Amino acid sequence: MISTFTFGGVKTAVHIQENLPSLKNIQSIWAGAPPSPTLFVCDSNTRHIADAARGRDESALCILESGEGAKNWQSVEKILEAAQKCGAGRDALFVAVGGGVMTDITGFAASIYMRGARLAFISTTLLGMVDAALGGKTAIDMFERKNFAGTFYPAQAVYMPVSVLGTLPAAQIKSGLAEIVKTAILDEESDDDIAFEKFYALKNFTTDKSDVLKKKLAKLIAEAVRVKARFVEADPQETGEARVLLNLGHTFAHALESSAGLGKISHGEAVAWGIARACELGLARGKTPKARGEKIRALLGALGYEIAAPHPAMKSLEVFMRSLDDDKKKKAGAFRFVVPAERGAVLIQLNGEKMEEMNLIKNIAAGAGA
Ligand SMILES: NC(=O)c1ccc[n+]([C@@H]2O[C@H](COP(=O)([O-])OP(=O)(O)OC[C@H]3O[C@@H](n4cnc5c(N)ncnc54)[C@H](O)[C@@H]3O)[C@@H](O)[C@H]2O)c1
Repeated sequence: MISTFTFGGVKTAVHIQENLPSLKNIQSIWAGAPPSPTLFVCDSNTRHIADAARGRDESALCILESGEGAKNWQSVEKILEAAQKCGAGRDALFVAVGGGVMTDITGFAASIYMRGARLAFISTTLLGMVDAALGGKTAIDMFERKNFAGTFYPAQAVYMPVSVLGTLPAAQIKSGLAEIVKTAILDEESDDDIAFEKFYALKNFTTDKSDVLKKKLAKLIAEAVRVKARFVEADPQETGEARVLLNLGHTFAHALESSAGLGKISHGEAVAWGIARACELGLARGKTPKARGEKIRALLGALGYEIAAPHPAMKSLEVFMRSLDDDKKKKAGAFRFVVPAERGAVLIQLNGEKMEEMNLIKNIAAGAGA
């Protein structure tokens, strides 16, 4: 299944398929002027996937550490050095093979290499397929802050070979599922968008890799791609009011990730918890209907996420509130939260100078009620 995702003037061909693409497949979109050379970037866990896709004599390989800890400047330098060593010019192709960490770093490196090299992704995690590999945001973490430096630089081709999810640890499947639930909440097209049956079978994907389940997963990935495309195409650089809605639950989630220590809990775990908090905040501000909030929380609970507050990984409420405050500074002084609405979601802003609004956020994060 191939769909097109447009970011500003750049088109991304998204391939949701069973198997890995070959090097020739990947290079074929530049048929008129073939890239030379091609540099694959992977981590220690995705090397076998990169090896299976690359024609060894015709490509170079840069292997990074795995996990959030690798999303740093040193990794960017390694990629730039590997590109320089293999004689890459601006027409070179960088191919990231991995989850969101590999695609974020490689995208960033490609965007600054000689002011912009060609870029493709082989996304190998569920979270990458439904979210991180799409939409052009690249980033590295710096000064203990997530995604502190980054660019907008979409890949021109993104491959989502569902068969590679077979080796993905159960916790990572669960992490990606949270982002699928998020896009389903945002999707206003069908009444059963957050229907329990739609997701529940996927809990078993870690033990049951049957074709039926793989097909179901591929369908949900395609739906998530469609929903993300709708918001990104309307507002590529998040300057308007559309793309920001993809941050449903993420203000709480990012503060939780920072207060737990970067990489300590998975992004999806944090997002699920953040969505549960967003339901409470939305109810308190008259935006989330009680029944819809309860339905969403029940779904997240049934999928095995920790949705109670405070989250056990939260080091302290003070650190959590400090992280939120950092986030507020980036957003012109207001706390910005996306919460579920009657259909889809809405953005609400809270004034951090008002004690009453600060206390509302604090109480929700601490589980003291809204
Ligand atoms: N750019 C964006 O729009 C965007 C959106 C969402 C998240 N992100 C970023 O994505 C990152 C999280 O991505 P992630 O959850 O994919 O994490 P990840 O890239 O760290 O991958 C998770 C783990 O799975 C391993 N792995 C990957 N594919 C595998 C496979 N097929 N088999 C076995 N192991 C495999 C990795 O080595 C890693 O240890 C975060 O840094 C987040 O900020 C970016």
